[in-house]
Amino acid sequence: MPITDRPTDYGDPEFGKFLRLTFARLHGWPTADLTSRPLIGICNTASEVNRCHAHFDTLVEAIKAGVIDAGGIPLTFPTISIGEVFVHPTSMLLRNLAAMDTEMMIKAQPLDGVVLLGACDKTIPAQLMALASANVPAVVVSGGPMANGSYQGRTLGACSDCRSYWQEFRAGTVTSTEIEAISQELAPGAGHCMVMGTASTMAVVTEAMGMMLSGGAAIPAIHQGRRQHALASGRAIVRLVGDGVRPRSILTRSALQNGIVALLAAGGSTNAIIHLLALAGRLGVPLTLDDFDRLSQRVPILADLRPVGRYQMEDFYRAGGVPAMLGELRDLLDLSSPTVDGKPLGDLLADRPAMKPTDVVRTRDNPVHPSGGLTILRGNLAPRGAVIKDKAASRALLDHVGPALVFDSLDDLEERLEDPALAVTPDSVLVLRNVGPVGAPGMPEAGSFPLPRKLLRQGVRDMVRISDARMSGTAGGTVVLHVAPEAYVGGPLGWVRDGDPIELSVKQRRLQLLVSAEELRRRASTWQPRVVKRPARGYEWLYVRHVTQADEGCDFDFLRAQDPAT
Ligand code: FES
Repeated sequence: MPITDRPTDYGDPEFGKFLRLTFARLHGWPTADLTSRPLIGICNTASEVNRCHAHFDTLVEAIKAGVIDAGGIPLTFPTISIGEVFVHPTSMLLRNLAAMDTEMMIKAQPLDGVVLLGACDKTIPAQLMALASANVPAVVVSGGPMANGSYQGRTLGACSDCRSYWQEFRAGTVTSTEIEAISQELAPGAGHCMVMGTASTMAVVTEAMGMMLSGGAAIPAIHQGRRQHALASGRAIVRLVGDGVRPRSILTRSALQNGIVALLAAGGSTNAIIHLLALAGRLGVPLTLDDFDRLSQRVPILADLRPVGRYQMEDFYRAGGVPAMLGELRDLLDLSSPTVDGKPLGDLLADRPAMKPTDVVRTRDNPVHPSGGLTILRGNLAPRGAVIKDKAASRALLDHVGPALVFDSLDDLEERLEDPALAVTPDSVLVLRNVGPVGAPGMPEAGSFPLPRKLLRQGVRDMVRISDARMSGTAGGTVVLHVAPEAYVGGPLGWVRDGDPIELSVKQRRLQLLVSAEELRRRASTWQPRVVKRPARGYEWLYVRHVTQADEGCDFDFLRAQDPAT
């Protein structure tokens, strides 16, 4: 696209072209280049309040070199940057805003193609959603995981160990001096969290779906290979523009299913379910929770990665990363799916370097678990579904009946959890509600909420917890999430009372409030939404009016594709 294409509207198109060219000369490219070479946007989400993206400038330089080398002109532009632990109340509130920002920047600017650089949890999902809507040729580059941390000879991983050591600190088994020393080592450098949390998961899924060059997801942030990968991505986007390959030709239902296979085989984050459902909604591709459940019964966990397993992303990289893992799962993949590498997925897997089997990426006959780690639950408590990462849960609690102890909100939880008089036992089923997409708003990662300190001090380390919230991909525990519909909009979670027996049966895929149907009808007829002050203006006002439920991906209803061509 010549830089003068689609000029700004001034009522005089020729003046618009003249003005555009006049201002574009700043970059130093001669007129002939500006009007003939492909223009490649590089979407840089670096910011100093997003420490996971701290090293992006070096990657941008590498992408630029690749673009120029292949004959394009690189044009870097920013979009909003969401650093998971630096935003309040929760990053999920901003994912859709990032997706809208990215989509509009891609569509409004004179770009033939775009390389999107993301890493921290919500950035790559937002970018994929934007690409699905903008449908401009694109390659996604992940910033890569942090190197492993270490404390007194033990490998540390953010944020699985952030949580586990904090729990021990609350339980009194780790001192304040120790927790300070651990904090120094938990996140030792640039890059995203280095366990199979949401950022790692979404990078893996993006590679499996064909939107990232093969082998890119696992390369550590500080490894020289990441800059080589960035440079190759710069070259690739110029080729994709020349070939007219657009995201919707890659992101088919088959590609999304390949992404789910990768998610499951990696023991990945529950958040990926929401992001993939949102992506499917943008694409107009039919995808439901049942697709995840069906595949979860067939796909083994092959990557022995925390929090489900033992190793971390650095180890995954050395064991061959995504190609090694998918190479074991060829019969479960659509190998004909196209990729930004310019070859079908099957060819990429056939071409991958031979790797010796390792403990980190297991062979098919020696899986970490014979089936995937995510189970979709249904029942009268979750008519539209709920999710449990059962391989990160306590086996003894996977089939459990216990009395409900209900917290009406995060404030209520904070107020009462440490009360020594709290009527709680290790058998209790802790219910946290009004923390869903609308109720919170933004569905925070509060689902793996803390256990009462008095039980921690007795040695209890896990209990059944149920909520309409999400959970960090780095967390674990017997935690039922994404209950839909959420309590705030009238879901049955809002009808639970203290002492009601609740049945969790992962084997039966069931989540049931063991109260008579008649009593539930009575409670439903008298139910009132929790009274909370709702935002009267701005983005949050828009959010609570238009966000969809967890089983639809929590995108805005007006951003879903009306039909596959829109
Ligand atoms: Fe950015 Fe964990 S805080 S990926």
